[in-house]
Amino acid sequence: MTLIQPPSDDVLDRAAALLAAGKLIAIPTETVYGLAANAWDPDAVAKIFAAKQRPATNPLIVHIAAIDRLDQAVRMPLEPTLQRQLDCVVDLWPGPLTVVLPRSNRISDTVTAGRDTVAVRVPSHPVALRLLERCSFPIAAPSANRSNYVSPTMAKHCDGPIGQPGIHQFIEMVIDGGDCDFGVESTIVALRPEGPKLLRPGGVSAETLAERFAVSVSELTGAIAESEATSKGSETENAAMLAPGMMKEHYSPTTPLVLYDLAQRMALPARVGRIAFKPLSDADAARFSVVETLSDSGDLHEVAKGLFAALRRLDHAGLDLIVIDRCEPVGIGMAIMDRIHRAAATHSS
Ligand code: TXA
Ligand code: MG
Repeated sequence: MTLIQPPSDDVLDRAAALLAAGKLIAIPTETVYGLAANAWDPDAVAKIFAAKQRPATNPLIVHIAAIDRLDQAVRMPLEPTLQRQLDCVVDLWPGPLTVVLPRSNRISDTVTAGRDTVAVRVPSHPVALRLLERCSFPIAAPSANRSNYVSPTMAKHCDGPIGQPGIHQFIEMVIDGGDCDFGVESTIVALRPEGPKLLRPGGVSAETLAERFAVSVSELTGAIAESEATSKGSETENAAMLAPGMMKEHYSPTTPLVLYDLAQRMALPARVGRIAFKPLSDADAARFSVVETLSDSGDLHEVAKGLFAALRRLDHAGLDLIVIDRCEPVGIGMAIMDRIHRAAATHSS
C-alpha cells in the first residue's frame, strides 16, 4: 500500500480506525497538512513529538468536528467573559482560527505541555471534517513536518527535508486532500478574562478579529506594541512569544534566505533563487538562477498559498541563497511576513 491515499470513504474509515488504535496519520486542512493523533491518547500524542522531534514544551492544536463538540477539549461551561469573546468569533468556524481556552481534564498534559489551557479549532477542509465526524475523539495535529522545517501544503510534502530522515517512518498513511487553500497556519488567539490576545498571525486577519472583538489591532496584538520599544525582533515575532514554542519556531529551509531589500546591499553568491510575489522584469529575473513567481497580480492570498511549496522547491534546487520579496504586514500579509522573518532568522542570527 502506498503511503499517500485518496480521500475515499473507505480510506477515511481506515484512517479513523488507525487513529483510534493510537497510530499517526497525516491529514489535509485548509491551512497546512497536519500530523494527526487521538488527542485523548497520551501515548499516541507522544508519538507526534517523537516524529517531529518537537520539544515537549511546545503544545499542540486540537481539532474538533463542530462547535457543539467543544467540551471534547475545553472545560465547560465557559465563564461568561470567555463565552462572550468566543461568541464574537465563533462564526469564523469552520476555518483557520484557533482559540486558546481553559482545558478539559480529558486533554492530557502531553497535548498542552502541562498548561491549563488548550488550543482548539474547527478546520474547514472537507476531508478533515469527514474524518473528524468518523472519530469519537478530538484530533491533535501540529503541522506534518519535522520541527522547524517548512510546513507541508501538499500531500507529498508530509515529510522532512530531502536527504534527511523524515516523518514518514512514523506515519501509517497520508490522506491526499489536494493543495491547502490558505498555505499558512491558523491564526491563534487567546481568550482571557483580561481580553483577547493574538498569539500567532494566520489565515484569519488581525483586522478581522479586532473588528469582531471591537478592539484596535494594537490592543489585540498588545504584546507587540509593548515589546516593540525594547526589542529589535519583528512585530509578529514579539507577538509569538506569548504562544509557547512559537518564539523558537523557524519554518526554515536549509538554504539561507534573505529579504530582497537586504540582498540589494549584499555581494550575491553564484547560484541565487528568487521568490517573487508578482512577475519580475526580464532584467531583474536575469540576475537569478531560478525564479518562483507566486502570483500574476501580487495577490497576497495567492502568495500565502504558494509560499511554503516554493521555499521547499528552491531549497532542493542546489542554490547558495534564496532571495524573497516582502509585503505590508496587513491582512494575510502579517502571517506571510511572520513566516518569512522566522525562515530568514535562522541564518542571520
Ligand atoms: O493551521 C494550523 O493551526 C495547523 C493545522 C494542522 O491545523 N496546525 C499548527 O500546529 O500550526 P502547530 O503545532 O504547528 O502550532 C501550534 C502552536 C504552538 O506552536 C503553540 O505556540 C500554540 O499553537 N499553542 C498550542 N497550545 C497552546 C496553548 N495552550 N497556549 C498558547 N499557545 C498554544
Ligand atoms: Mg508547525
